[in-house]
Amino acid sequence: MTTAHLSGRRVLLIIGGGIAAYKALELVRLIRKAGGEVMTLLTKSGAEFVTPMSLAALSGHPVRQDLFMPEDETAMGHIELSRWADLVVVAPATAGLIAKAANGMADDLASTTLLATDKKTLWAPAMNVRMWEHPAVQANVATLKSFTGFHQGAFVGPDEGEMACGEYGFGRMAEPAVILQAIDRLIGAGSRPLAGRRAVVTAGPTFEPIDPVRGLTNRSSGKQGYAIAAALADLGAEVVLVSGPVFLNTPQGVRRVEVEAATEMKAAVETELNAAPVDIAVMSAAVADWRVDGVATGKIKKAPGGPPALHLIENPDILASVSKSGSVRPKLVVGFAAETSDLEDNARAKLSRKGCDWIVGNDVSDDVFGSDGNAVTLFTRQGSETWERQSKTDVARKLAQRIADHFKA
Ligand code: CTP
Repeated sequence: MTTAHLSGRRVLLIIGGGIAAYKALELVRLIRKAGGEVMTLLTKSGAEFVTPMSLAALSGHPVRQDLFMPEDETAMGHIELSRWADLVVVAPATAGLIAKAANGMADDLASTTLLATDKKTLWAPAMNVRMWEHPAVQANVATLKSFTGFHQGAFVGPDEGEMACGEYGFGRMAEPAVILQAIDRLIGAGSRPLAGRRAVVTAGPTFEPIDPVRGLTNRSSGKQGYAIAAALADLGAEVVLVSGPVFLNTPQGVRRVEVEAATEMKAAVETELNAAPVDIAVMSAAVADWRVDGVATGKIKKAPGGPPALHLIENPDILASVSKSGSVRPKLVVGFAAETSDLEDNARAKLSRKGCDWIVGNDVSDDVFGSDGNAVTLFTRQGSETWERQSKTDVARKLAQRIADHFKA
């Protein structure tokens, strides 16, 4: 039995009501044994068959049960749960859960989570044979299977055999070991489309020294760039994050190179380009346009003659130099355009002036720096797509997915 893809991945297991719910306990154990992390969500009827206590003990996480629990909503509500997971598994999947998900009904934690998630969902149905064969259930199953992209529903089982109700036929939930294999396959399939690709991401502000204690910088938090590095790594890329000074943790699986000034950032990026071929460059740093000419070696003192005059000189444009780096040019170079007006014109002008392939244009006139949300337009040489305001994490995931699609094509 191979579970090559499960290690380090997160499974949200939704447990519906049915005698097969006891098998969910074994499934939790198997996922963890394979190196995966499991969070369980127990429906009201599921709780008639297995106890939250056993699930919490086996999964190592609190069990989620209610849509409206003040402490759960602050800790992890339905939106956070769906974001947390790499894959959602419904086992046992009852006729009721299948019907709700197929029809977009959301009236409890399980169904709202299923509607809120943009992750693939694996269904392990368990029900009486005549329920399973009912055209209503079959129509709902067909609907879930017809969903595409992230919302695509995959099925494992049900198996044929004797049922708890004494009847014989299709309706038994697949065995936990078989569900585990299906989980592993689903996580493996297309979930690491950037495996084998190397990416360099710049993020954060730069800090341009005036003297040993002072400097010029800007209000970039680095959040968007860090989220992009994380999203590319999640899709399997080997990511180097060249970061200016920020207060953020290094995302898992990402190598961080810390720099301060723009010239250092440029040198660090060049080192990476020359070390090994880079497929993807995403230059999201807010590089200071100017630096101080002749940084003072000692602290500048207040003098009777008034404040010192700072002579500024232009910093090198890292994005432009990466775009024109000849034999070491990454296959795809993505820049950012932070604009307060005329987004499209300015972004398109930057695209051609800097020679990059894509530009992510964002309107910074409105609450972007330091905030968790972002509204961007992706400009390519072929066209543009505007993405409604969403979290920087979601913007990053979407961009990483577009990058993966680009390489697939
Ligand atoms: N950039 C860079 N090096 C610089 C300046 C900018 O690599 N010295 C990159 C940024 O990382 C971003 C893109 O260029 O991907 C555009 O940055 P932005 O600040 O919007 O543009 P500027 O070139 O600074 O133009 P302007 O300030 O005139 O808008």
